[in-house]
Amino acid sequence: MKILHAAAEIFPLVKTGGLADVVGALPQAQISAGADVRVILPGLPAIREAVLHPRTVFEAGPLFGAGRVALRLGRLPGSGVPAYLIEAPYLFARPGGPYQAADGSEWGDNLQRFALLGWMAAHLAAGELDTSWTPDVVHAHDWHAAMACAYMAAHPGTTARSVFTVHNLAFQGLFAQADFGELGLPARFLQSHGLEYHGQLSFMKAGLKYADRITTVSPTYAAEMATHEFGCGLDGVIRGRSGDVSGILNGVDYRVWDPASDTGIAALYQPDRLAGKAVCKAALQRELGLAENPDAPLFGVVSRLSAQKGLDLVLSALPALLAGGAQLALQGSGDPVLEAAFSAAAYAHPGQVGVKIGYDEVMAHRMIAGADLILLPSRFEPCGLTQLYGLRYGTLPLVRRVGGLADTVDDATDSALAQGRATGFVFDAATPAALEAALARAIARYRQPERWQAMMRSAMARDFSWSGAAAQYLDLYRGLMPASH
Ligand code: ADP
Ligand code: GLC
Repeated sequence: MKILHAAAEIFPLVKTGGLADVVGALPQAQISAGADVRVILPGLPAIREAVLHPRTVFEAGPLFGAGRVALRLGRLPGSGVPAYLIEAPYLFARPGGPYQAADGSEWGDNLQRFALLGWMAAHLAAGELDTSWTPDVVHAHDWHAAMACAYMAAHPGTTARSVFTVHNLAFQGLFAQADFGELGLPARFLQSHGLEYHGQLSFMKAGLKYADRITTVSPTYAAEMATHEFGCGLDGVIRGRSGDVSGILNGVDYRVWDPASDTGIAALYQPDRLAGKAVCKAALQRELGLAENPDAPLFGVVSRLSAQKGLDLVLSALPALLAGGAQLALQGSGDPVLEAAFSAAAYAHPGQVGVKIGYDEVMAHRMIAGADLILLPSRFEPCGLTQLYGLRYGTLPLVRRVGGLADTVDDATDSALAQGRATGFVFDAATPAALEAALARAIARYRQPERWQAMMRSAMARDFSWSGAAAQYLDLYRGLMPASH
């Protein structure tokens, strides 16, 4: 089976969040399982520079406003995964992020940039761009690649099937309806059962309407996104496809995230040799200017600072956290109001609150290795990866019971503790009081070192490697193939 993953970001080249980690790891896991897998990516500067031995497989004329568009095939550094690179310098060769300029404003031509990504994937699937390789399945990730599903549906000769994975329903790729003509799709694709969304165009809806199958990144989020509360206005569309929607939990790339081999942390450790964890904690306390107290429970946050992540609850619960003798270490960037509020908290509580505003991949490893707990009080969380990293590092997750957090963390209830199943702390209401109660439970448990270490060992023993998810996706693709496959 030949599979093409279409996405806008990929670890370690371009990353704004967990999507990149998934796109970096899933193709490799599927190749290990025996599938013939390639990726297609926009020719953003970091990707163009990194792809090895690119050769031109197709030269297109002007497309979506770009004067020169070419498709090149090379290999990703490290993994060797074959990668198609869309060369369109007018659309992709620029400084800044994949979706936004350095000042945080959306690129004004995102419609053209990501329509091109979908168009190229669909034309590869139609067998037009690379005569030596035609995918059986195009697996498109998030709104950035969703137009592949619409272009494939628009082409009667395409036999390849499409799978669309929702990583985050809150980012939808909305554009002016007046620009529909730019997409080169038949008029029927504009109607309310097509891309039209309250007078705009929605690329996310293109994926939800036209993909053969829809997946999301945890079973609980698959159910949640069909509800008014979590559906971000698209729950009706999702309910309309209920038979085609499933949730497959993300995995962890343990070659990148494992305290037994992580070269970026102060000391290595593993379940039967935990001494290195204390070294990592002391190093983090020093790095962030926290009191170097081994007995203070250290709560860590590594996160985009956005409303999704519920970090306003942490600000409200901070007095209770500090009164319990705990410390807070936060690394994040995003919403300027939250950045300022956490910086102010660090200023107000020297030695107890340490804050690093910014994005730094290696620092994230030091944070997760050094903290005792990782906090995710998310309002919604399709999967969440940092709690999975926390589990592996014996950094117990304290999470809200939503989405993938509910599916991956076992609350320290009496029965879970008795059965040795407990791996973290889970709370329900998105209120400071509910978070404070969970913080108090965690702090009390931390004061019982033997029971704490037992939980650490349960957490570290959990296996969220990619092989399971890779196999589930391959089964899903097989179900879409004609019987002979
Ligand atoms: P989301 O994709 O919603 O941001 P995930 O938990 O799926 O949430 O993935 C977040 C990823 O981004 C993780 O790999 C995490 O380590 C990383 N990350 C988030 N914020 C930062 C930061 N400030 N610096 C470095 N890495 C970060
Ligand atoms: C999104 C979600 C996050 C998920 C990630 C990877 O960014 O917010 O919960 O883990 O995608 O699927």
